[in-house]
Amino acid sequence: MAFEQKIKELLDKRGEARMGGGQKGIDKQHEQGKLTARERIALLLDEGSFEEFDMFVTHRCVNFDMQKKSYLGDGVVTGYGTINGRQVYVFAQDFTVLGGSLSETMALKICKVMDQAMKVGAPVIGLNDSGGARIQEGINALAGYAEIFERNILASGVVPQISAIFGPCAGGSVYSPALTDFIFMSKENSYMFLTGPKVVKTVTGEDVTVDKLGGAMVHATKSGVAHFVGDTEESTIQTIRELVGYIPSNNFEEAPMVATEDPIDRLEDHLNTIIPENPNEAYDVKDVIHAIVDDGQFLEVHENWAKNLVVGFAHMGGMSVGIVANQPKAMAGVLDCNSSRKGARFVRFCDAFNIPLVTLVDVPGFLPGTGQEYNGVINHGAKFLFAYGEATVPKVTVTLRKSYGGAHIVMSCKQLRSDINYAWPTAQIAVMGASGATEVLHGRALKEITDPEEKAKFIAEKEKEYNDLFANPYNAAKYGYIDDVIEPRNTRFRVIRALQALQTKKDSLPMKKHCNLPL
Ligand code: HXC
Repeated sequence: MAFEQKIKELLDKRGEARMGGGQKGIDKQHEQGKLTARERIALLLDEGSFEEFDMFVTHRCVNFDMQKKSYLGDGVVTGYGTINGRQVYVFAQDFTVLGGSLSETMALKICKVMDQAMKVGAPVIGLNDSGGARIQEGINALAGYAEIFERNILASGVVPQISAIFGPCAGGSVYSPALTDFIFMSKENSYMFLTGPKVVKTVTGEDVTVDKLGGAMVHATKSGVAHFVGDTEESTIQTIRELVGYIPSNNFEEAPMVATEDPIDRLEDHLNTIIPENPNEAYDVKDVIHAIVDDGQFLEVHENWAKNLVVGFAHMGGMSVGIVANQPKAMAGVLDCNSSRKGARFVRFCDAFNIPLVTLVDVPGFLPGTGQEYNGVINHGAKFLFAYGEATVPKVTVTLRKSYGGAHIVMSCKQLRSDINYAWPTAQIAVMGASGATEVLHGRALKEITDPEEKAKFIAEKEKEYNDLFANPYNAAKYGYIDDVIEPRNTRFRVIRALQALQTKKDSLPMKKHCNLPL
């Protein structure tokens, strides 16, 4: 074959691979408002940075006449490129090829990028659009998923793993994302379920739509499986790019510093009066977060799930930080099963990837009752406690208002190896609130008072006595549990100074195979 012909053959093959399952499939994808695998990669990576692997791979299955349904690339586009100049590895499943279903060879392609990402220490981003294991391949498809899962597990805590769900994803194509650090979904055409509605109907008789079974909002608000939800595929992909800016490429690196014009010593006078006079009145802790971080920029994780705890990423003085804050606006900021799971997972991610933690505390305690107990709040709360106690990254805590009981301990108290703990003058650090404490401490005396007026007067006296002792930060500061009581408007400055001082922090855990946290 002449040289020109060889080049033509290469270009033709490349052209064929770029068409995936063919024009009809691409048109159908567009009609459904979905992008193709290649269009998604183009949006994700810096222009012109994509280097592709394995365009010419085809599957090896001959069951059910599958040799007649063979496509170059076999349903997944893989390779590496950059996001704002930083290297990432990527795979994007192509629904136009047999529903993006996973074959043995497709798994090999995905494993290849995962292995290389581990060698060079770069994040892996998977764009999933797949009906799960390719049914025609049987055990070979299952083995392929198992290979991917094992790599997900080994890469966990070594390189960041990010998954996006675009399209109806079932079986292995939801389990692999579940093993990664963050799951993104888009409100349009994004579904996750172990088995689709047809199988649900057969097994349980339940009639359910894909939306109700596993739509983006189901996973963003009810199950907590999705960490981020975008309105469109485009905006979802932009948020992935944004997230990458807050995290390091691997567990040996620090997250990149981001230059800012925002003065470190910017004062926020309104913070001095943000805490309402009435201790039962709410305020929005996100106002505090926006006021203290660089340029007011905060990337919230799990925005729509367990809203009583706010977690997310920001920069402070150019440093990337993970922020964890009780939200008085939602259920008074109480901790419960879901917020504990949310907090624990976030703290562990930050700790695994050297991202300092800034904790803002205003928590009345754990939510009591059968609903919580039956759902295992003891275990979930312990998870959160465990995550903070184990974390060795710099930890800076600011108590804004309430910090009661077990929840005080969980929220990065000094004895869980928090490094610098500040409190606002409005802080109240105690075993519980005044009314609960008065009921317990003076129950017998209260029973004996029959006159309602006298009773109310007695309660008010006892509550005052309690509040005088505990409704302030100075009792905790007296014992050194609080390092300083700070003016709220200085919070940005004081926290950044603390983070700067802790930049060279070294702390460790006793030698062990791994911990046994209460999963
Ligand atoms: C082979 C598949 C497939 C699969 C879809 N297709 N899923 N082929 N194996 N798993 C093919 C279809 O046959 C069809 O081919 C094309 O992809 C598009 O699929 P449609 O059904 O037409 O699309 P849609 O109506 O949008 O429905 C998408 C879907 C549905 C909801 C994903 O296809 C579905 O329910 N698939 C099965 C999901 C599932 O239960 N997977 C097994 C998971 S078990 P043609 O030729 O007609 O275009 C698993 C085990 C891993 O993954 C281990 C987990 C722990």
